[in-house]
Amino acid sequence: MVVIHSAMTGEKDDPVVTERGATYDRAMSQTVTVHFLPAAFEPPVLQGSVAIVLDVLRATTTIVQALAAGATRVIATETIDEARRRFADLPGGTALLGGERGGVRIEGFSLGNSPLEYTSDVVAGKTICLTTTNGTRALARCRHARHVLVGAFSNLRAVVAAVGSSGLPCHIVCAGTDGHVTAEDVLCAGAIASELEKGYADALILDDSARVASAFWQTVTPGPALREAMRGSRGGVNLVELGYDRDIDRCAEIDCCDLVPEFSGDDSVIVPMVMKVHQSPRA
Ligand code: MLT
Repeated sequence: MVVIHSAMTGEKDDPVVTERGATYDRAMSQTVTVHFLPAAFEPPVLQGSVAIVLDVLRATTTIVQALAAGATRVIATETIDEARRRFADLPGGTALLGGERGGVRIEGFSLGNSPLEYTSDVVAGKTICLTTTNGTRALARCRHARHVLVGAFSNLRAVVAAVGSSGLPCHIVCAGTDGHVTAEDVLCAGAIASELEKGYADALILDDSARVASAFWQTVTPGPALREAMRGSRGGVNLVELGYDRDIDRCAEIDCCDLVPEFSGDDSVIVPMVMKVHQSPRA
């Protein structure tokens, strides 16, 4: 059997005390929790855990795509000004500005937030300074986690392998759309939770939120039904109105990329996580 060990470790940290003074009981086993919105948790709760941030339509799918197409790194900023500042600090010709507000490319930026724009002829060897309405903010909110991974349908299997072998509590964070829960993120959270349960049943426990998301995921099948569900979601309806229908099909593709981007809360830089593949002695 081939086992993928991520570069992550499962050592325990000190108990976590949240901003409101509650203690967070970090389970000895690996608990999987889904947060349907970034505002639904207090950031310190993520200490010592691995967080997976999902903004399936489209920020996290676009980040996975940019790195798969050869971008050297993505710098994810909360504001347009910060993206411009980080871009200005880089040597000329080595970086591109990307992102959206209201789904539309920001004035003066070379790229919007469509994964279809991030092809290797455009982004290979470049740093992408990216800012989006919901996705890059959700990443920033997770900076207390020991590891912050960027997830999407496109790298589902790779994310599950990285988290499952880490032994760490896992928080799956849905970015939502403008403060509202959106179905595509919850579907992806459910897909991750149910794959984790299938692959690592002895080692992890889904909490109620993860079981709700997993049950939602069981209501659709990958392919046309998933694409339809995503078109009808809050995020999908916005994109259809803006003429980005093809992006939805791209964002619904499962396992087309085999990398796991990791976000650093210190400098907001995202690079592919290093994964080591070991041959189990019992193979
Ligand atoms: C976001 O980060 O808000 C989304 O990715 C919006 C979009 O689809 O452009």
